[in-house]
Amino acid sequence: MANIAVLASGSGSNFEAIAMAFQKAGGRHLVSTLICDQAKAFALKRAERLGIPSVIVSYRGRTRDAAESELASAIDASQASLVALAGFMRILTPNFIKRYRGRIINIHPSLLPDYPGIHSIKRAFSAGESSLGVTVHYVDEGMDTGAVIEQVKVPRRATLEETESAIHDAEHELYPRVLARMLDMY
Ligand code: GRF
Repeated sequence: MANIAVLASGSGSNFEAIAMAFQKAGGRHLVSTLICDQAKAFALKRAERLGIPSVIVSYRGRTRDAAESELASAIDASQASLVALAGFMRILTPNFIKRYRGRIINIHPSLLPDYPGIHSIKRAFSAGESSLGVTVHYVDEGMDTGAVIEQVKVPRRATLEETESAIHDAEHELYPRVLARMLDMY
């Protein structure tokens, strides 16, 4: 069995999609911990419902290095082979990236290298793109700049809301599938 730690800051729909897909596949892979930097993240409620251990690592009132050292302890304590960022809204330091290089992965709602950063779906939609999409990539020191692992295209829908919803559906299919394939190597 191979473990993965998921880091999230908000809703946690990708975290839940990963956990559910792994459970359905028979438990060969396991989300061994959910780590949140926000005590109010809805992701924590999802973890409770799914019976997955969770840890809150606050960045408030201390250095980023101190917070990251606690992140690393939580990841390592959960015996995770891989670390998946799923809506984790913090920039990680080069030291942290170095520690997990090749084992830390992110999902981004655009066809990278197009539209890195925030509000990607809205920006792509407003720019009139006919084809939008989702990228799973390795995390490096930049903002959404790491090597692409896999992408899927999502055709533009009539409205922004419908397009967003189709992109999130694509994320929930792509991310668990790519992570399971990577965990198979451990
Ligand atoms: C997703 O769109 C993901 O691509 C981006 O942040 C969002 C997180 O959504 N990095 P959720 O918290 O998984 O619902």
